[in-house]
Amino acid sequence: MSTAHPTPTYPDLVQALADRGLLTARWRRVFEAVPRSRFVPARVWRQLADRCEPVVGTEQWLALVNSDEPVVTQLDDGAGGGPGVATSSNSMPSMVARMLGLLQVEDGQRVVEIGTGTGYVAALLCERLGDDLVHSVELDPVVARQAADALAQAGYRPYLRVGDGEQPWPGLGLVDRLIATCALRHVPYALLRQVRPGGVLVAPLAREFWSGALVQLHLQDDGTAIGPFRGGATYMPMRSHRAPDLHEVRGKGRARAAGLDPGRLLDLGFALYAGARLPGVRLIHQNTPEGVQVWATHEDGGAATAATGEEVWQYGPGFLWEEIEQVWWEYETVGRPDAEQFGLTVTDRGQQVWLRDPSAVIRPARV
Ligand SMILES: C[S@@+](CC[C@H](N)C(=O)[O-])C[C@H]1O[C@@H](n2cnc3c(N)ncnc32)[C@H](O)[C@@H]1O
Repeated sequence: MSTAHPTPTYPDLVQALADRGLLTARWRRVFEAVPRSRFVPARVWRQLADRCEPVVGTEQWLALVNSDEPVVTQLDDGAGGGPGVATSSNSMPSMVARMLGLLQVEDGQRVVEIGTGTGYVAALLCERLGDDLVHSVELDPVVARQAADALAQAGYRPYLRVGDGEQPWPGLGLVDRLIATCALRHVPYALLRQVRPGGVLVAPLAREFWSGALVQLHLQDDGTAIGPFRGGATYMPMRSHRAPDLHEVRGKGRARAAGLDPGRLLDLGFALYAGARLPGVRLIHQNTPEGVQVWATHEDGGAATAATGEEVWQYGPGFLWEEIEQVWWEYETVGRPDAEQFGLTVTDRGQQVWLRDPSAVIRPARV
């Protein structure tokens, strides 16, 4: 008996998204009408945990394109001989479906997308709303050219612009919806200024403390934006929002017993809470045979690393691990809220994370 799996098809992929409750009937028809393969070039990479692997051969290409995985389409901003970091991709279809659902578009609404990438999301929006209502901006001119070609070949003609999506689209005026398909470290206030009151902005936020999360912001009459976090999301960052994973670590290590298994920190609810309490602290993790290892750093040179079943090591000024443990116990005290209970408010003075209600802003424990 053969154990070979048949190559998945695009209808299989759409069916799987629908089975997971990610598509309304309307969005399902839109996805069905826009095959992902039309927007994926021949040369692509699969994103692995620690590197990008070239995809070789039609079977492998089709298997990746019709799977719920991101398809990497550019490395190192297109420069040859780089470290092999993904800088453009066709995003994971379930994430695309989630974000388009959160955007809550209605007939007749004008949308701006930041990060045209391969043009797939722009095509889905054109199919849903009509070409005239869709605007998409891409920073990389080569990526933008390929997207324009793919869109035209598929019969879509949205408004396309090569430029920095962090700035409002010149002369466009207010739109109803804005979707960023690259991750933001913070929501620039300039972006809010192009969305009308009552409009919606959906974006992945790259949080310093461990994880990224989607945010769905509703524009208020006074120009501020308020809304909930909507689950985890890992996206490549907007180019000007790139930052190293960790700060430089200074000083000799000091060991102590861990009061907390580091694996407990890897929870989106806690990460949102800790990110607000300990601004500027970066935390990343790696799986180990015993569990996980985490590293936390701050720009003041303070750092800590902890691995399951081992002592904690702290470096530089202060006691970063103690601070993190303290915030963990606070998080227990407030009921270990899950990620959906947190939200974000963005004003011209910056952004603040809140818990359960916009008035319950989480104040930093360190300044
Ligand atoms: C994950 S890809 C977008 C996927 C795309 N929506 C699609 O359907 O294929 C992210 C894109 O954002 C672009 N990008 C990064 N910074 C940007 C900026 N400041 N303005 C516009 N695009 C940007 C990258 O060049 C990259 O192509």
